[in-house]
Amino acid sequence: MMAPEAYRSEAYYRAELDCVFPSSWVFVGHERWVPEPGDYLAETIGTEPVLVVRNPDGALRAFSNVCPHRASLLVTGRGSCDRRLVCPYHGWTFGLDGRLLAIPRQRGFVGGVDTADYGLHELRLDVWEGLIFVNATGGAPPLRDHLEGVPELLAGHDIAGMTLGAFLDDPIAANWKLVMDNAICDYHLGMVHGESIADLVELEGLSEQAGHTTAVASVPWKESALPPEPRPTLTGDAARGSLGCFVFPNLHVIGFPTGGATVMWWTPTGPASTRARVLSLSHDADADVRAGAELLSRVQREDFDVCEKLQIGVQSRHYSPGPLHASELRVTVFQRRLLEMVEPVLAARAGAGVNRG
Ligand code: FES
Ligand SMILES: [Fe+2]
Repeated sequence: MMAPEAYRSEAYYRAELDCVFPSSWVFVGHERWVPEPGDYLAETIGTEPVLVVRNPDGALRAFSNVCPHRASLLVTGRGSCDRRLVCPYHGWTFGLDGRLLAIPRQRGFVGGVDTADYGLHELRLDVWEGLIFVNATGGAPPLRDHLEGVPELLAGHDIAGMTLGAFLDDPIAANWKLVMDNAICDYHLGMVHGESIADLVELEGLSEQAGHTTAVASVPWKESALPPEPRPTLTGDAARGSLGCFVFPNLHVIGFPTGGATVMWWTPTGPASTRARVLSLSHDADADVRAGAELLSRVQREDFDVCEKLQIGVQSRHYSPGPLHASELRVTVFQRRLLEMVEPVLAARAGAGVNRG
């Protein structure tokens, strides 16, 4: 298990923001959040502000959300523009293809400006089942490789065809890795969620599979909790229970035997703070969305309370990690991949610090 310092150190946090997030495929939002040309969403991937915008031809494109003039963010949140992105600082105007189209009072630039030199920096974008991913550095292997066997496992759920339901967005006073560890730890279900979801599942039948950038938990449901008629496209484990699919670095997609799904993701906002988002999806437009949201919110609260206690615990001089349970296999996949990426960065930075000294 990861050393306690990893959950409290500013150096770890900085290395994750500078390196781990930008060099990975990171989920930034759902395609239906940007349905029309000119619709955009902004997100920060580690240290990189990015924007995703729908072009007139229907394609999504991702750009650095940093104006090449003086670095203002171009857009924030989600919204729609009139087929041009206008920088809020001095008004440089960009097309949805990233080209610089207009510069206010252009003749005032001594020596002139060639607009071709100042387009927006385009980033790699790919979409799986309506979920948009961006790789800010451009060097990651293809998204399909990164997702390993997850698309096949969840193919029968047809996530792309689902309707968007509840969306929750909450702050947690804990390091994002504690929140991530907890989300993919299957050892805590009976204890922490005893009042909410633990009764639905057969904990003894739980199994896990480890990949390199993904890990899957198959959690069988009790017969009484299963729908009387499963969705015909769901077979095997997908029809018998939940499939909890972790995708490095910070995404968890759960497919349910009812045919629905939840997409959960966690964004670091400080060494001891995290933004937790969850989007619920369903094929059943008549589903009781409010009841679903209440259950989701209750489960989240149960988890957040634990994570905030863990954050206090990892600061203690009397803590060193205890033994690993078989139901924590997915946590080891997450931590192994993270350490592979972060440790060389920390070592290089420590070396540079020594040389400078
Ligand atoms: S910073 Fe964008 S126009 Fe100046
Ligand atoms: Fe939990």
